[in-house]
Amino acid sequence: MGEPVNVGLVGCGTIAGQYLETIGRLPGLRLAAAADLDPARARETARSHPGARAMSVDELVADPEVHVVLNLTIPAAHAEVAHKAVAAGKDVYCEKPLTVTTAEARELLAAADAAGVRVGCAPDTVLGTGTQTARKAIDDGLIGRPVAATAIMVTPGHERWHHHPDFYYAPGGGPLMDMGPYYITSLVTLLGPVTTVIGAAGRPRAERTIGTGPRRGETVPVNVDTHVTGVLVHDSGALSTLVMSFDVVSTRCPELEVHGDRGSLVLPDPNYFDGDVLIQDLGDEDDRWRTLPVSAGYEPAGRGDGLADFVLTPPGIEPRTSGRLAYHVLDVMESLLASAGSGRALSVAGRCERPRPVTWDAGR
Ligand SMILES: NC(=O)c1ccc[n+]([C@@H]2O[C@H](COP(=O)([O-])OP(=O)(O)OC[C@H]3O[C@@H](n4cnc5c(N)ncnc54)[C@H](O)[C@@H]3O)[C@@H](O)[C@H]2O)c1
Repeated sequence: MGEPVNVGLVGCGTIAGQYLETIGRLPGLRLAAAADLDPARARETARSHPGARAMSVDELVADPEVHVVLNLTIPAAHAEVAHKAVAAGKDVYCEKPLTVTTAEARELLAAADAAGVRVGCAPDTVLGTGTQTARKAIDDGLIGRPVAATAIMVTPGHERWHHHPDFYYAPGGGPLMDMGPYYITSLVTLLGPVTTVIGAAGRPRAERTIGTGPRRGETVPVNVDTHVTGVLVHDSGALSTLVMSFDVVSTRCPELEVHGDRGSLVLPDPNYFDGDVLIQDLGDEDDRWRTLPVSAGYEPAGRGDGLADFVLTPPGIEPRTSGRLAYHVLDVMESLLASAGSGRALSVAGRCERPRPVTWDAGR
């Protein structure tokens, strides 16, 4: 392996620690620089990573030592930071969602194409053994022809544990924009791109009461739909049913299931990289689930493996965590909310390729 790729991190917040652990584990990546709106956070990150330097965002994107910009800022800042990287001629990898709106994402991808640089995006949990083992089972024909899937994420609301949950109830938040990228990216990986969506959504409470921390008892206004349901029609004809909710106490439904005409699969939570994949064949006794041996995906894996996949993908090949895939996922989510608002089925304009699988021999 040659020299490591130098990473410039922008946004040294909550999720940065998981990325830094992965960067420390992978020989192909090295943290070269850190920046944050709060310079003390950047300094602290650089101090704990020998060889890394703290600097401003503008200095970081212009620094000749930085090969790729890792954008771990809040969703509302993703576009601004990514544009700075692109304007400086750097590849950029963002946390999810790619941007808040598809209009912003289109502009970003067009600017990157014009500059000859690449945009990548989380989630990379789909590259782990959970989703990839299920994908291999589907591709190997173990469930026959895939016909349907269910994707279910429910919680009574993050205000029960989060000290400052306001952003979850502001535009760009809500259960779909927050958690949908994990589920929809998995569904596109498993069943291919989506052509049409039909949505319905509810907002049963006008405000939420913070349950913990210094603002306990304070209310925050709800300006997004908090129970979003819908059907995604895949290009292949398969139908995925989606439930994303901040209004449900609990459920016994698995997070993800995929059904074919010869079998059904239960997948692990797509917010994680691994976990058991269960199969039941047509003709098995009811509830006779078998655990599939792990057969594909990165292992070990953590947040940041998608960045490694992105930077190590040779030119001319679409990275598995491409901005185009993230754009499609954002388009599906935006269309689903628009469909819920209008009460009409909507077609999803943009297409993407089904991302390449991660086979056991996929080099990193
Ligand atoms: N927290 C999680 O569990 C989690 C999990 C998966 C993905 N994510 C995603 O990761 C991203 C970051 O989330 P987080 O929880 O780490 O947020 P955070 O608020 O903890 O950290 C974000 C950091 O970015 C900095 N920042 C904001 N705007 C900036 C700008 N314009 N320029 C430079 N720095 C800026 C902030 O000062 C802060 O330090 C989000 O896209 C989120 O969806 C978070």
